[in-house]
Amino acid sequence: MAGMMMASALSAQVTQQILGEKHAMLRIDSQKKYLLLPVQDNQENAHIRVIKNNQLVKTLNCQLATDKVDYYVPYETGEGELFDITFNGSTRSTGDIHSYTCWKKMTYVDTLDSRNTEKFRPVFHHTPRWGWMNDPNGMFYKEGVWHLYFQYNPYGSKWENMSWGHSTSTDLVHWDSEPLALYGDGLGSIFSGSCVIDKNNTAGFGENTIVAFYTSAGPSQTQSMAYSTDGGKSFTKYAHNPIITSPARDFRDPKVFWNEEAGFWNMVLAVGQEMQFFSSPNLKDWKYETSFGEGYGNHGGVWECPDLMKMKVAGTDQEKWMLICNINPGGPFGGSATQYFIGQFDGRKFICEDEPSETKWMDYGKDHYATVTFSNAPEGRNVAIAWMSNWQYANQVPTTQYRSANSIARDLGLFEYNGETYCSVKPAKEMDQARGAIISAPSETCEMVVTYSGDAQIILRNQKNERVIMTYDAEEETFDMDRRHSGDVSFNDNFPTLTSAPTYGKLRQVRIFIDKCSIEAVDADGKMAMTNLVFPSAPYNKVTVKGKAKVKIYSIKK
Ligand code: FRU
Repeated sequence: MAGMMMASALSAQVTQQILGEKHAMLRIDSQKKYLLLPVQDNQENAHIRVIKNNQLVKTLNCQLATDKVDYYVPYETGEGELFDITFNGSTRSTGDIHSYTCWKKMTYVDTLDSRNTEKFRPVFHHTPRWGWMNDPNGMFYKEGVWHLYFQYNPYGSKWENMSWGHSTSTDLVHWDSEPLALYGDGLGSIFSGSCVIDKNNTAGFGENTIVAFYTSAGPSQTQSMAYSTDGGKSFTKYAHNPIITSPARDFRDPKVFWNEEAGFWNMVLAVGQEMQFFSSPNLKDWKYETSFGEGYGNHGGVWECPDLMKMKVAGTDQEKWMLICNINPGGPFGGSATQYFIGQFDGRKFICEDEPSETKWMDYGKDHYATVTFSNAPEGRNVAIAWMSNWQYANQVPTTQYRSANSIARDLGLFEYNGETYCSVKPAKEMDQARGAIISAPSETCEMVVTYSGDAQIILRNQKNERVIMTYDAEEETFDMDRRHSGDVSFNDNFPTLTSAPTYGKLRQVRIFIDKCSIEAVDADGKMAMTNLVFPSAPYNKVTVKGKAKVKIYSIKK
């Protein structure tokens, strides 16, 4: 998905009123559809209050340019609106407000230039057209369309103004950008959450209404809901929000699902370092049931973005529940990661079968976080998408107009190894359809299929000797990826890393998806996944195989 706005050649069209050394007002001209706001990446956020008919209708923070423009973000104009702008930078470094660059560069336009100018923008991964993205939110499938909402800042490429962006896809590979779904309000900004399809109209908003649950991040974090009667395009916020409150400081990311056996709705909430379970007959009235987490798994950070699902254990008749628990920090290689717990859940209590001291990770790379699954996926599938970044450096990765991509979609399941149950992760079957022709060398977007008969090292390299080394040790049953010399690793000390995964038995085949700035190595049998970002100065165009492996490379259909 491409996206870029240019206004460099355009002349100023705004008349602002300067009212103080840090305060200005600007009447918005709604004859054009957008006002392009010039952003300076290292500037403090200016606070903009949008006033209409004397009422405050919206607020946003934007790093309005004072000296130079790094990129533009579009503000969709509304009739009769007034911007009340307070700058927060020190006037010692910004200079006089009268001479700020933003006044000269703000421009009205009717259409957005969607040509991509970003070197690292992936081709077959979802990215926002512009602006910052983190967690996937509210994902659901309906009538052939996969809906993906996401934590989004429409007004800049850093975390701010949390909202739900929206994209749709019919094949999980090509994504269309949709209008913004949810923007903050008096209760706070819109943090992560989930959607369900209320097939039986339990909430009273109508049969098959899409109901979204999200955290209102105000002075306290509370849970809110909104509903959509147009299939997820637009949402109406429930008039009696918030629906759940708590004195807990970290209280967020509601995952809601219909519990078939229990005959009611369940919600899982991440609360500090535990997960809390709630039940409801009607999506509006929620009862706290129990909590899980104390003494179990990793507690190196805050627990976030839960998911909970029942799955079959491959090769058996058993069904078990898996509780997904994203955690930040505390990941196996620092920062954010996805842990999970296996057990039973009766709608009220989760009983974990894992040893309390054990931590099970879903992906052993550094860039796999906030993993959640689609609601209502066809054929009983559990299709997950993760945010391909890490809070350690997500705001600093070398892109400009947008920041962050999501992982490829993955099919989750369960498998047994040495008497233990683990989560299996396979590339979603839609990735098979995305395969193009066989090519002789790697390109910036391709799939490499490595078939192993023993120890092997795969080295991906470009002309500048920037390289990624992937090593499979058949005896130790480990798979490593070394990105310490992969290209630009300078933007954060936590970026250069070697990640290592257990393979739970021998590896037969690993599918390696390369898309400009990401490498996802996923065991074709599902026992190992590793997701890492890379920023090479030129694409890796050479692959060297040392040891017992064969490589086949496929292009990806665009
Ligand atoms: C996880 C997270 C969530 C929160 C959201 C805010 O990455 O911290 O817990 O809802 O991001 O953007």
